[in-house]
Amino acid sequence: MGVKICGTGSAVPSRVVTNDDMAKIVETSDEWISTRTGIRSRHYCDAEAGETHRTLVRDAAERALEAAGITPAEVGVCLVATFTADTCTPSAACLLQADLGMAEDTLCFDLNAACAGFVYGLHVAEALLPAAKRPYALVVGADVLSHVMDFTDRTTCVLFGDGAGAAVLAWREDYPQLHAVWGSRGDDTSLYAPGAGAGEPSYLHMDGRAVFRFATEVMPKCTKEVLEDAGISADDVDRFVFHQANKRIVDFAVKKLGLDPAKCEGNIDHTGNTSAGSVPILLDEIVRAGEVGPGSRILMAGFGAGLTWAGALAELV
Ligand code: ACO
Repeated sequence: MGVKICGTGSAVPSRVVTNDDMAKIVETSDEWISTRTGIRSRHYCDAEAGETHRTLVRDAAERALEAAGITPAEVGVCLVATFTADTCTPSAACLLQADLGMAEDTLCFDLNAACAGFVYGLHVAEALLPAAKRPYALVVGADVLSHVMDFTDRTTCVLFGDGAGAAVLAWREDYPQLHAVWGSRGDDTSLYAPGAGAGEPSYLHMDGRAVFRFATEVMPKCTKEVLEDAGISADDVDRFVFHQANKRIVDFAVKKLGLDPAKCEGNIDHTGNTSAGSVPILLDEIVRAGEVGPGSRILMAGFGAGLTWAGALAELV
């Protein structure tokens, strides 16, 4: 019993912010940002154009459902992985239910595992689907980091962007498992954003070097564990989709695991780090570019605040 991905979608806001634009806000340069991270531009929501977390989630979800060829009424589980929704409550998943007209007996809730959220969400959906009313799950990863950036802190504000990605999972008795692995290591110092009641703005704070060390430990580790759990080698995987936090972190993991770099290409150059949006946006890009198709096996891995990490192997229908 397990799941396959039968449709993907994504949405990024219209406003493109280049590294040169960032250099007008803080003391930085295109050279510093691109050589340290691989980022050249990112997208920010434009409030005047009506772009919000909610519209990104809705657009990505609609595209995924259309690609899957199913209607909102057929969804049994609706999860949004995020920590930057427009409202703490109602959840982004409930707003999505209202926007798309999903049935009242759809399990709708948000999941906060920061940048690992989408991969956590795949696992949670796989676990819930056997008990759900209908065998399809809509899993969205979305974050609007521009709303939680301290634009006086050059060490964080240049790294992040806004965006959403979504996947529709179909559950069947003859489908394979995701071979999901996950972990968390509670830590409120290296990467955190205060919540309501903290008495300070909800800016994201990060100790870049500590997070870099954590990421280069867990990315190769969870990738290896997924391969071991599935009983396959890296050669059996058609494409790796790694969380896009920093190109240097992905390059480190690729080298350490001896992977083919052509199977691990990212998109951080034009997205920045979109947190929970990162993995599903890249997944949708490679699906729409025809890089992967029916039967392709994709290994996804993410890490983030919490601290959290997760990996999963999914097949496309
Ligand atoms: N522009 C110019 N100079 C800068 C900038 C900037 N934007 N930011 C920092 N610097 C300076 C620093 O002040 C420092 O100067 P100093 O040597 O005079 O003190 C110098 O550049 C080097 O700073 P480091 O922090 O050592 O730079 P490093 O090479 O470690 O790169 C980076 C920093 C890119 C943040 C890296 O540590 C990293 O990628 N960390 C992981 C980040 C990450 O993965 N985040 C994921 C978050 S996921 C989530 O859940 C939200």
